[in-house]
Amino acid sequence: MNCCIRGAITAEENSKACIWENTKIMLSEIIKSNGLNIEDIISILFTCTRDLDATYPAVAAREIGIVDASLMCAQELYVEGSLKMCIRAAVTVETDKKQRDMNHIYLKGAKRLRPDIVNKSKIEAVAIDGPAGSGKSTVARLISKELGYIYADTGAMYRAVGLYCLDNGIGIFDDESIIKALPLININIEFDNGVQRISLNDKDVTEEIRTQSVAEAASKVAAIPEVRELLVELQRKIAENNKVVMDGRDIGTNVLKNARVKIYLDAEVEERAKRRCNELSEKGISFDYNNIIKEIIQRDDYDKNRKVNPLSVAEDAVVIDTTGLSIEQVKNKILEITKRK
Ligand code: DC
Repeated sequence: MNCCIRGAITAEENSKACIWENTKIMLSEIIKSNGLNIEDIISILFTCTRDLDATYPAVAAREIGIVDASLMCAQELYVEGSLKMCIRAAVTVETDKKQRDMNHIYLKGAKRLRPDIVNKSKIEAVAIDGPAGSGKSTVARLISKELGYIYADTGAMYRAVGLYCLDNGIGIFDDESIIKALPLININIEFDNGVQRISLNDKDVTEEIRTQSVAEAASKVAAIPEVRELLVELQRKIAENNKVVMDGRDIGTNVLKNARVKIYLDAEVEERAKRRCNELSEKGISFDYNNIIKEIIQRDDYDKNRKVNPLSVAEDAVVIDTTGLSIEQVKNKILEITKRK
């Protein structure tokens, strides 16, 4: 399918060298960040603001090896208050991905979008990402109540797929069998008083998915692109129809890139392990502290280093280290940020 990627970058001066250099930076970033090959590029439409007329940016595209694509350059009209010395590109590419998965690139001064455009393109959602045990779900639940939003727990969806594999004797490293089983996995999400309940093939598994073995299986199946595609679609549908606080690993970076508020919660491993131990002892389950530490480190490693949409901090997220903070303190910090945005 053909998709279009937008890019913009500002130049420091109106000179050939500067226009070419910045065009190369922008194109290279578009290529890298979207995992493209040069041959995937079908055409590029460049525009420059009127104060950049020393050369055509298209020359730079040819210089970095984009030889087959059709290129076109145009000068923009003058718009009061718009960016100065800006080069823009609309790159049409042939790709297996969907348009919404394209990464648009805004660099240097072009990072600052006009506030009226920014606000219109945002959706009413609070995206909370972070590693296991950073306190996401507890805080997300409280915040959703305060804001009157629903709370969507995306980890539960990966857990449901993990549970299906465990229950049906499908190896959690057997990607091929997991992908084959996907049409048989029907996950349904409902909200009871704003709180999510999840069913797997018509059976409510909201509580059953909370075990350590299901968490590990979830982390493994979450590395499979086909599993993510299925669940991300479900997650986006929820956000289309509701005001939502959504937590997970890739909400701010992928699922809801246009969320109005993005938070990344973190905490030291020891603190996260202590929280897990408290949870287990409250439930009367015995545990070994060193094992818990090991499991957390392993899961972090898996979630942060997988190829597709790994756990990472969105560029526009606010990072909160929750080590030593109470739930109430974290909640208030996020509500404060939400009010400001
Ligand atoms: O948050 P949790 O522990 O319930 O998540 C279980 C696993 O699911 C986690 O180890 C990684 C995966 N996950 C993911 O890859 N992307 C998400 N948005 C949420 C969870």
